[in-house]
Amino acid sequence: MGWQHKPGCEDREGNSFDGGESDTILCLRVIATMPVGLIGGTGLSELEGVELEAEVVATRFGEVAVRRGRWAGREVVFLGRHGADQNLAPHQIPYQANIAALDKLGCTHIIATNAVGAIRQDIEPGHFALPNQFIDFTKTRPLTLFDDTGSETVYVDVTEPYSPQLRDLIAEQAWELNLVIHQDIVYVCTEGPRFETPAEIQMFATLGGDVVGMTGVPEVVLACEAQIPYASICIATNYAAGLSAQPLTDQEVHELMDQCRPDLLRLLEAVLSQLKPQPPT
Ligand code: HPA
Repeated sequence: MGWQHKPGCEDREGNSFDGGESDTILCLRVIATMPVGLIGGTGLSELEGVELEAEVVATRFGEVAVRRGRWAGREVVFLGRHGADQNLAPHQIPYQANIAALDKLGCTHIIATNAVGAIRQDIEPGHFALPNQFIDFTKTRPLTLFDDTGSETVYVDVTEPYSPQLRDLIAEQAWELNLVIHQDIVYVCTEGPRFETPAEIQMFATLGGDVVGMTGVPEVVLACEAQIPYASICIATNYAAGLSAQPLTDQEVHELMDQCRPDLLRLLEAVLSQLKPQPPT
């Protein structure tokens, strides 16, 4: 799965394996030691109960603080999207550095979590949702990993921005755990940090949006550019603006995340335990 786009397979010394059966076995061993990247969104600033070691990764977009360890039989790299002190607003997140760091560490997959507002009534607060498409309403964010002056423009294909295999695995594991998970969800990304107006939410509904959040883009796009299979587990923390009687507050988002975190952690653990290394295709 992790190698569906990348040609061949390399060990840490750069030896490549492109050939027969013994290369495939070697390759599987190499991939088994390669980490899965976990990007924790609002309400998931650490992995409680998992022993991790802090590391700083230098990238050409800046340094990124990550934590590495082993969880559910896989090497993992955990990155808190909103920074160590949870003080980065959605437009301040170093999206390029984050994806570049996970790429540099050789992540075979990235699983991200995102708190979202539900645009559809049947997506209730506390439900999980798996986007397969996004609509981008961001305005001021970096667009690409390939923005060096003079470098070739890369027009990445985002027909299938979220890995179908990862999505299937997450959905399967959610069912096993009896969690409500909505599939084939359209994620609308706004610039934030303000919440939306009810008129914007109505427009998003008309356009086919199912949930709204502020951090899914450009993260998913940059993962596509880095050719790392990526999925986002969204947690509906509230009905979007204008869909409930009360005005929205950041506090209700955090309170709901506190309630959902144990289920989210169980889901991540189950997915990791089933995320087997795959030979290159
Ligand atoms: N809108 C945007 N982002 C969000 C919301 C919302 O309603 N809830 C959680 N993140």
